[in-house]
Parts: sequence; C-alpha cells; structure tokens
Amino acid sequence: MSKVRIYTLAKDLGVDNHRMLAMLDDLGVQYKSVSSTLEEDVVETIKGLVAEEQASGSGGGSDSAPAEQQAQTESAAPSTPAPVAVAERPAPGEAPAAPGMPTRAPVVTIMGHVDHGKTSLLDYIRKTKVAAKEAGGITQHVGAFEAKTSKGKIVFIDTPGHEAFTTIRARGANVADIAIIVVAADDSIMPQTREAVAHAQAANIPLIVAINKIDLPQADVERVKTDLTQVNLVPEDYGGDTVVVPVSAKTGEGVEDLLEYISLTAELEDLRADPKGEFAGVIIESKVDKQAGVLATVMVQEGTLHVGDFLVVGENYGKIKAMSGSDGERIKEAGPSTPVQVLGFSENPSSGDKVASAKNEHAAREVIAARVDKRREDEEQGKRRKMTLEEMMGP
Ligand code: GTP
Ligand code: MG
Repeated sequence: MSKVRIYTLAKDLGVDNHRMLAMLDDLGVQYKSVSSTLEEDVVETIKGLVAEEQASGSGGGSDSAPAEQQAQTESAAPSTPAPVAVAERPAPGEAPAAPGMPTRAPVVTIMGHVDHGKTSLLDYIRKTKVAAKEAGGITQHVGAFEAKTSKGKIVFIDTPGHEAFTTIRARGANVADIAIIVVAADDSIMPQTREAVAHAQAANIPLIVAINKIDLPQADVERVKTDLTQVNLVPEDYGGDTVVVPVSAKTGEGVEDLLEYISLTAELEDLRADPKGEFAGVIIESKVDKQAGVLATVMVQEGTLHVGDFLVVGENYGKIKAMSGSDGERIKEAGPSTPVQVLGFSENPSSGDKVASAKNEHAAREVIAARVDKRREDEEQGKRRKMTLEEMMGP
C-alpha cells in the first residue's frame, strides 16, 4: 500500500486538517506539513480514533466543529515544525481572529524571475477559473482577480514583479497571505527567484514553489529541486518541508494540484474577517483614466464597501461613484478578500496606502483634519529636535 498523505486521510475521514494535525500531535507523530505521508500503523490508529469519536458522537471536527474545539486545535498547531502547518505569524490585523468570525478567501501573490511564467500561470488559472462575464464595467485591467476553484474562492494579485509587493509591505500593509514562487524548469533558480523568496520570508507568509514549464523537453524538475535546497527551501520529497508543485502554464498540467495546495495552506492559516466590522483596505494599484478619472484597485480586508461610501486615503477622501469586480462587472458592495476597482478618488493614491471609510463627507473631512494636525505637529517636533541638536553641536 502506498503511503497516505495527511490531507488525503483527513479528506477521506471527513475530518478537517486542523483536527487531524492535533490528533497527530497527541499521538506524538512527527510530520512536516499536511502533505507529509503517514506510516500505515499511524493511519490505522487515526482511523480507529475517528471511528471511536464518531461512535461516541463527539463530532470529530468536521466543518461543524464547535468553537471551543477549533480554539483548541488552533493552539495546538503552533507547536508543529512545518511552515505550511505553522505560520508563526499574527493574523493580519494583529489580534487572533475570533472563532465564529466568517472565514475569508486567501490572497495569493505570484513572484519569481523574469519570464519564468508568472503571468502565463495566472492567465491559465484566470481563463479556466474565472467565470467569463460581459465586461460592461469601468475596468480595463484590475491587478487582482478572484478564481473560483472546487475548494472555494482564491484571490490572486497579479503584481508587476515584486515591486508592488515590496512597496505595499514597506508601507506597513500585508496584503498577501500566501506567496507562490514561480521557477522555470528549464532555467532554475535565478537572482529574482532569490529576491522573491527573501520577500516572502520577510513577509513571514507561507510559500509554495511552482516549478513551471514542465512541458518543455529541456525541463529538469530534479535540478530545480536540488537548486532549491541551496536557498534553504528543501522540497518535501528531499526530506524538507517546502511544498513544490510541478506545473505547466501552457498545458495546465499540475495547476489543479497547485490550487489544491493553496487551499490547504489557506485552511491551515485559518483566515477570517468580519464583513460587518469596520472597513479596512489597501490600495493595490491606481491609475488615471482620461475619461473616468482616478481608478483605484482596493483590496477589502475587513468590513464591506458600498457604492456611496466615503473613503479616506492619507489626507484625501473620495466618494465611491462606482465599483467593479475583477471580471469587470459592476458591483454595489464588496466584502473581505475582494479586490475592487473604485471610481471616486480625486487624487491618485499610491500602492500600499491604507484605506479607511467614513460615514459621510463631514466625517471624512474630520478624519483628514486630524491627520493634517498630526502631521504638522510631527513636523514641528522634528524641526525642534533638529534645532536642539544643532544647538548641542555648537557652531
Ligand atoms: P515577466 O512578467 O516579464 O517577469 O515574465 P513572466 O514571469 O510573467 O513570464 P510570462 O508569463 O510572460 O512568460 C514568459 C514566456 O514563457 C512566454 O513566452 C510564455 O509563453 C512562456 N511560458 C510561460 N509558461 C510556460 C509554460 O508552462 N510552458 C512553456 N512552454 N512556455 C511557457
Ligand atoms: Mg509577467
């Protein structure tokens, strides 16, 4: 019998992955990630445990697991040594997400060396996974899109290289939950691959390596895997804990697997946000359209945006005149993990700018007035400090 992967067993038994990892922890079983394989005796033990639990009616932690059980498995997860299983990262928005809060779709960024196939991979996913709708909206190009997979919604950010990602992060916003590092199978690790890995590691988000272009005759997946170890990413089948998925953006081979791994990783991250909470978002990109005006792509992180809402970015505000989703369709509202193109800013915001909302124009002006005061005060203080320094240094 071939070995069974943890997530496969979880799926077969109808147990969620958190619960499965907690059971393995209780048994003292070592594993690297949910895609690690299990020995046959462990599989049998787990099957027995699940059968017992089900017989005694304690649930077994399917999707309907009670909140306290979820909390337990959450606290158990961080003691495991796997990067996919263990994101030692505070949930975006600092405080741990309250159990019971709705889960949200993962936001995935794709990075890698030039020409390794990032855009092609997204195009492939987009073509097959985005319901084609009539583009009647205001959008020409949204730098982010939603893919509907068998495992639910996944949001991809189609950043032009890593600059946008780095800028957004440099501004203190973490917009991505998972990074895909694309490496071409005929080219292997290149300088920008290393950069991309460093960016993902700095952001402290789980990363998945997609070895692309495996359809090429000169593709050498094993060489890429060996080279990955040199950047401290040891593939699972080399005894490490890096998830590596061979794909072809041309034929589509492996793309389903990649989506599956993204969903698994997301599930373990336990991403949640409150659609009814206070709105918070980040500018992904923005441009000025000669006719329409400023078109800004906003990633909704918390709360819900509505047409007619007032948005505050830095010291500017705008009223949402129209919004469109990533298919170009006009929408009236957008909840967490939704990229939307917003029409209504008077000034062009920058990537990474944080977006807040205000009840009305008056409230928006007040928020801005407070920000301007704060900035002036900081500037004054800076000047005073500089003067004191100069005095101290003497003529
Ligand atoms: P930059 O945005 O310039 O960094 O490049 P990129 O990483 O987005 O690569 P892109 O998708 O533009 O692909 C570069 C070239 O590789 C194009 O000619 C693609 O057709 C080709 N390509 C991408 N993926 C595959 C693949 O899976 N197989 C083959 N045979 N060619 C591919
Ligand atoms: Mg590209």
